[in-house]
Amino acid sequence: MKPMKKLLVLFLFILAAYLTNSQSMNIQLIPQPVEIHPMKGVFVLSKTAAIGYAQPESQRVADMLAQKLNAPTGLGLKAAQSTAAAIQLQLNASPDPRLGSEGYTLEVTSKRILLTANQQAGLFYGMQTLLQLFPKEIESPTPATAAWQVPAVQITDYPRFPWRGTMLDVSRHFFSKQDVMAYIEQLARYKMNTFHWHLTDDNGWRVEIKSLPKLTEVGAWRVERAGRFGERDAPKPGEPATYGGFYTHDDIREIVRYAQERFISIVPEIDVPGHSMAAIAAYPELSCRKDPNTRVDPGSKFSEWYGNGTFKMLVENALNPSDEKVYEFLDKVFTEVAALFPSPYIHVGGDECYKGFWAEDPGCQALMKKMGIRHVEDLQGYFMNRVEKILSAKGKKLLGWDEILEGGISPGATVMSWRGIKGGIEAAHLGHEVVMSPTTHAYLDYNQGDQTVDPPIYAGLRVSKSYSFEPAPDGVDPKFILGGQGNLWTEQVATLKHAEYMTYPRAWALAEVYWSPKETKNWEGFASRMETHFDRSDVAGVNYSRACYDPIVKTRTQEGKWLLELSAEMPGLDIYYTIDGAMPNRYSPKYAQPVELPKGPITLRVIAYRNGKPIGNMITLKRDELEKRR
Ligand code: ACM
Repeated sequence: MKPMKKLLVLFLFILAAYLTNSQSMNIQLIPQPVEIHPMKGVFVLSKTAAIGYAQPESQRVADMLAQKLNAPTGLGLKAAQSTAAAIQLQLNASPDPRLGSEGYTLEVTSKRILLTANQQAGLFYGMQTLLQLFPKEIESPTPATAAWQVPAVQITDYPRFPWRGTMLDVSRHFFSKQDVMAYIEQLARYKMNTFHWHLTDDNGWRVEIKSLPKLTEVGAWRVERAGRFGERDAPKPGEPATYGGFYTHDDIREIVRYAQERFISIVPEIDVPGHSMAAIAAYPELSCRKDPNTRVDPGSKFSEWYGNGTFKMLVENALNPSDEKVYEFLDKVFTEVAALFPSPYIHVGGDECYKGFWAEDPGCQALMKKMGIRHVEDLQGYFMNRVEKILSAKGKKLLGWDEILEGGISPGATVMSWRGIKGGIEAAHLGHEVVMSPTTHAYLDYNQGDQTVDPPIYAGLRVSKSYSFEPAPDGVDPKFILGGQGNLWTEQVATLKHAEYMTYPRAWALAEVYWSPKETKNWEGFASRMETHFDRSDVAGVNYSRACYDPIVKTRTQEGKWLLELSAEMPGLDIYYTIDGAMPNRYSPKYAQPVELPKGPITLRVIAYRNGKPIGNMITLKRDELEKRR
């Protein structure tokens, strides 16, 4: 080859590499699709682009797409029935077996966008992917400016698991109807399809039950308290209960419809027999001691935890399993709940039930004798089997936390494994269907960064750990693993914005774990895509944690030396530190390997930089705090 020609070939090669790279750089999807082939070119959105749907039933998704595109672009696009629009939605005439009920294909060329699916859910998820292909300004709820174009690409996509969920606890703090809908909307954008709604607990009963009006007249309200949950003063006699709220049947129907339009199934949870102080405050006769002074708890210390999973309730918060009135009560509750929620499942809790009051109760002792139940713990099995019969009479399947395995439950019950995955493994071996949501990877109430930066909670969970979650363990028949979810308990979370902060980015990581193929999982790739979704969330006005930029501080002792170890989750950061209390910056020591800590007073300050600029929070730890990390 002549030198000139050689140069030209090299130039073209570099150009092609640059183009391919820049196009795939624009494609930053969460969750990552099964197959994605970037192509040359872009589709430019203009006001002449019609949105067409081939089948009338696809109008809802097409209208939603028009609305999403119109809000920021102001292009005034309309959706209409047609088969050859510039943006075309189409159901497959004969189902593509690979796509199942939620999969889709998306083909973008410079001329058109074609979205196909077997069912509406697939069109909806394809729409979410398409929106993520647009510049971040597409997330703006109000008019914005950007080059409204999409890189050419071919995508084939379908989920790994049918259950991709997030749980929100609305008992510890109440979230308004609008908050709940906003939360659901965000989940749908990441192809989550299940919203587990923790509606009842010790701190508030949030669902109207018309046949039991005191549940919300009394049970939905507690005394107002500030300060850390679990450390607050108990209600004083006669003190008015002013904090709370509940959802009426109309509210629930509206939220259920809103979720259905976003292909999210709502699984309601009525947590029994434990976690029932709000119900007992309304109807004390449901408990063993029937204490008429029982109040909805405002976040006081009413239990003791002994660190090995055992605990004691200082105030009774469990229903009495030996009283037939309790089952009449539950029948009424589940009659209304079953009618309000179309989900085949009702979650009945079953977690953390303290049996100490049962052990002392003559009625429970008599029941144990009659049933030949030798251990009080096994009364929970009796209770849950009664509950399962109530649900099945209403055509609903029982779902509960992994404690429902204790005392025996029928194989028809579905188990949500939260105390690690061992309950889920055991349940699958027994032939139960399982949803995995272990504290180790899926607890969204845990701290995301350093305990000194985020409000301290009893445990930490970083986004990279959530991303490393594998819901289908080796040795378990995967057909029993429905999928997984993230759980946001809200003891320390009082507002929607804080709920978002706790949820993201970990729920994005979990969304990818539950949707994308295991084989393509890659933390560095996810971390880079996550950053573009930070930018998108900034435009959308959705809160999230940036703890992934914060240094992780550990120490260890080796051969008599006390060593400091620094790292960060986000790849490519430089970590600078000082141990004399000086403000660290890029002129301070840059961390490269474990550093021996000296004797005497230390104030460690550490911060991450990227491209010469500080990023993330500075962590400051004095010697006594470092000692705790030895
Ligand atoms: C739970 O976290 N108590 C299910």
